[in-house]
Amino acid sequence: MKIEAVTIFPDYFAPLQLSLVGKASNAGLVEFAIHDLRVFANNNHHTVDDTPYGGGAGMVMMPEIWGLALDPLMLEATELIILTPAGKRFNQKMAADFAKAQHLVFACGRYEGIDDRVRQHYESEQYASRNIRVHEVSIGDYVLGGGEVASLVMIEAITRLIPGVIGNPESLSEESHNEDGYLEYPNFTKPAIWRDIAVPEILLSGNHAEIAKWRSSEATKRAEKNL
Ligand code: ADE
Repeated sequence: MKIEAVTIFPDYFAPLQLSLVGKASNAGLVEFAIHDLRVFANNNHHTVDDTPYGGGAGMVMMPEIWGLALDPLMLEATELIILTPAGKRFNQKMAADFAKAQHLVFACGRYEGIDDRVRQHYESEQYASRNIRVHEVSIGDYVLGGGEVASLVMIEAITRLIPGVIGNPESLSEESHNEDGYLEYPNFTKPAIWRDIAVPEILLSGNHAEIAKWRSSEATKRAEKNL
C-alpha cells in the first residue's frame, strides 16, 4: 500500500517513523510519501490561499496549486481523501475499507479549506473511469487547524489493519471499536490486587465460557455508560 499526503506542513508527518506505523514502513508493508504543497505555488511569496468569493472570514486554498500537486498522484485505483470537518465521519469500518486499498492520497486543507472545484474536478468521469474515488472525511465534530493531524489519525487506524502489520491478528478481531461498533470489555493484568482493588474473581477461574459471558456484559455496560 502506498500512502501519500499533500500539506503545507510536511513536518507534521514526522511521527510516521515511530512505533507500529514506523515499523510497518520499515518492513515495506506501507510506503509513505509526503509532498509540500508550497512547491507548486509559483508566485513570488509561495502563497497558497486567497480571499473567498462571496465574502466572509478566512482564506481559501487556491485550486490551481492543488491541481498541480494532485495531478501526478492520480494513478489508476487511488482513493483521494480530502480532510474537512464537513466530511463523512471516520470510523473503524472506513479504516478497514481503506486498509484494502492500494493507494491513498490525503489532501490536507488549512484555513477555511480547499476551493470546492478541486473535489468536483477529481470526482469527474475522467477520474472515476480510472478507479479514482474522492472522499471528504472528518475525524470528529470539532474544528482542527488543518487536515494534518486528522490524516495522522486516519493513517494510524488504517495502517494497523494492513495484513502483517500486527503480529497477532486475534487482537484485531477482539478489540475496542470493532467494525460492528461494540466496545471492548475492561482489561486487567498483574498484580491480582493493586491499591486494594482486586481483579474480578471470574477472570481467575479458568472458566472460558463464563469469562466470555462476563466480558460481553461488561462491554455492554461500558458502551451504555459512554453513550
Ligand atoms: N480539518 C479541520 N477539522 C477537521 C476535522 N475535524 N476532521 C478532518 N479534517 C479537519
